[in-house]
Amino acid sequence: MLPSDPAGIQTLNAKLASLDASARLRWAWDTFGARAAFGTSFQGAGIVAIDLALKAGARLPVFTLDTGLLFPETYALKSKLEQHWGIAIESLVPDLTVEQQNEALGPELWKSDPDLCCNTRKVVPLRAKLQNLDCWITGVRREQSSVRADTGILEHVEDETNPGHSLWKLNPVTDWSRDRIWDYIRSGNLPYNPLQDRGYRSIGCIHCTRPVGEGEDERAGRWTGFNKTECGLHTAFRRKS
Ligand code: ADX
Repeated sequence: MLPSDPAGIQTLNAKLASLDASARLRWAWDTFGARAAFGTSFQGAGIVAIDLALKAGARLPVFTLDTGLLFPETYALKSKLEQHWGIAIESLVPDLTVEQQNEALGPELWKSDPDLCCNTRKVVPLRAKLQNLDCWITGVRREQSSVRADTGILEHVEDETNPGHSLWKLNPVTDWSRDRIWDYIRSGNLPYNPLQDRGYRSIGCIHCTRPVGEGEDERAGRWTGFNKTECGLHTAFRRKS
């Protein structure tokens, strides 16, 4: 039984912080088994974390939120990684196809209301998935943005629309730098998104992602033109402690 009081969680976090990422993932597997799962968009940190888990014998399930608007390169990478690791990655799709969304909520919703688009295509399906999990494992890194700078290795989070629903969120490589992630991928010869080599440093949906220039923030290419830096996955689940 894990502690849910702030002091107990702090102690647990300190213990996990002293372990390397493989041991953190091994701990998740020993503690939650298949009630813990990776949510990944096949970016660097997710690939590294899943690879570390599999190498540590932690066969944690993996899912992805398929918005129907991902780059062809991202879909191809999913198949490549499944083959590489010999696992099946679950794709979660929204209730509405893109065509149905165009009809119901207006054409090219990502242009008029990107929050509603992200909510419909990512947050709602994630919420449904997390109902059946005790621990959600992500590739969020502290270095990615100021909003993420104080990310915990282990957080106790609750659904902002349903405070009765809380679960654990493990960010096993949150203290890794971008260089460390990419050194791991290159030295291990792991498949990765070829868009990375074309200036895309943070990759989401096709209409809301652009490459970033030298010296620009890594997430500057997401939702350009909008005062938006988060898709909502990580704000919909508020940190309790
Ligand atoms: S986000 O704003 O799209 O959430 P980012 O692309 O930086 O941010 O991803 C951060 C983490 O959110 C990923 O490592 C992954 O754990 C989770 N995530 C983002 N997009 C998806 C997706 N399409 N499917 C599953 N998890 C995702």
